Amino acid sequence: MSSRTVIRHGLVITASDEIHADVLVEDGRIAALATPDSQSWTADRVIDATGKYVIPGGVDAHTHMELPFGGTHASDTFATGTRAAAWGGTTTIVDFAVQSVGHTLREGLDAWHAKAEGNCAIDYAFHMIVSDVNDETLKEMDLLIEEGITSFKQFMAYPGVFYSDDGQILRAMQRSAENGGLIMMHAENGIAIDVLVQQTLARGETDPRYHGEVRKALLEAEATHRAIRLAQVAGAPLYVVHVSATEAVTELARARDEGLNVFGETCPQYLFLSADNLAEPDFEGAKYVCSTPLRPREHQAALWRALRTNDLQVVSTDHCPFCFTGQKELGRGDFSKIPNGLPGVENRMDLLHQAVVDGRISRRRWIEIACATPARMFGLYPKKGTIAPGSDADIVLYDPHAEQVMSAATHHMNVDYSAYEGKRVTGRVETVLSRGEPVIVQREYTGRAGHGVFTPRSTCQYLN
Ligand code: URP
Ligand code: ZN
Ligand code: ZN
Repeated sequence: MSSRTVIRHGLVITASDEIHADVLVEDGRIAALATPDSQSWTADRVIDATGKYVIPGGVDAHTHMELPFGGTHASDTFATGTRAAAWGGTTTIVDFAVQSVGHTLREGLDAWHAKAEGNCAIDYAFHMIVSDVNDETLKEMDLLIEEGITSFKQFMAYPGVFYSDDGQILRAMQRSAENGGLIMMHAENGIAIDVLVQQTLARGETDPRYHGEVRKALLEAEATHRAIRLAQVAGAPLYVVHVSATEAVTELARARDEGLNVFGETCPQYLFLSADNLAEPDFEGAKYVCSTPLRPREHQAALWRALRTNDLQVVSTDHCPFCFTGQKELGRGDFSKIPNGLPGVENRMDLLHQAVVDGRISRRRWIEIACATPARMFGLYPKKGTIAPGSDADIVLYDPHAEQVMSAATHHMNVDYSAYEGKRVTGRVETVLSRGEPVIVQREYTGRAGHGVFTPRSTCQYLN
């Protein structure tokens, strides 16, 4: 049966436009936009958006629901994590399926499909973490692309777990140059970092703040440079994930000035938090252990500038939550045993809106870095990431004047702390539609696990 929704009197904001318009949704898709009250659309549901922004649902291109890490698992399941994402105005996640060493990509992908299927409140897609490049996995990359898994993460960090050496990276990049895949790089020199970890622990320096000190900005920059040059040799595009250091941004900007298809993502934690958090006493710093690490506050200016100049194109969360009690605590007395990752899937759209309020970015740039470009980068556009006829009706009504205080007491992520506890922000999600279905209605959850479906992706739509 056909269903129609009209959203009236809102300010529709996309990456390219801001227009006062009514939006007609039909059978889960956007059917039309028109001047307010210029038409006599009939509908089953009319939503009054007076005084609200009508924006595309957020596309979070970097999440880790249920990720096994350091002997434990990320605490959000696909059910809890996608529900929390919806509360925060995100309607699509791209999560990372994992190939464990000794297993095929297929085995890893099947396992992640099994975790997600029937459990998600919003639509989801997958990247593939490639931990073991060999002749078989290279062939499997081609097959995965046909199934809509078009991007592959490699790690220059975590020797013995996810790590790939330069030869393996080059081979995967050569393959992606042929098959259209996009290599996503965790760019940190993990071999050098592990030496510094051992030396630091041997001196008795075990506190969480040393996590930030051993994972040096120069070792992020060095790996970023190496990844860029390997991609150049292979003739492949490159997307560097969770960029946090000024020196790494410099490498990306230089490569882009040379005309290379090199892209970068940063995350809210690098824009709003710093190494000061890692130094919080009584092991509280463990709440902020992630890799790349939080940097001294001075690095934030370079990240904001790069977001304005498009040397960084995407803000994703790298949502990878571990509870303080029982999970982060695994690293008491040894910072290298603290599971790496921060919660944030619920906070991204609001934190970036705060950047609009603070005058750091424009409203359209907010939508570009949080919705449109991640959709383009990962082959989901214009199905996701915009409000246009034919697009999925993934729509958020956003109240730009509401005030909120971020807190674990009120968030919906399955984690016992907030990285932004007590932070006041202006702006709040009010209503969320996913393919036309109400998931949040005036801050009541109306969604359901299983509404969200796997969404195959085309190859990168952002290349020069
Ligand atoms: O600390 C982080 N970022 N944890 C998740 C895994 C990764 O490297 O993205
Ligand atoms: Zn990573
Ligand atoms: Zn990650």
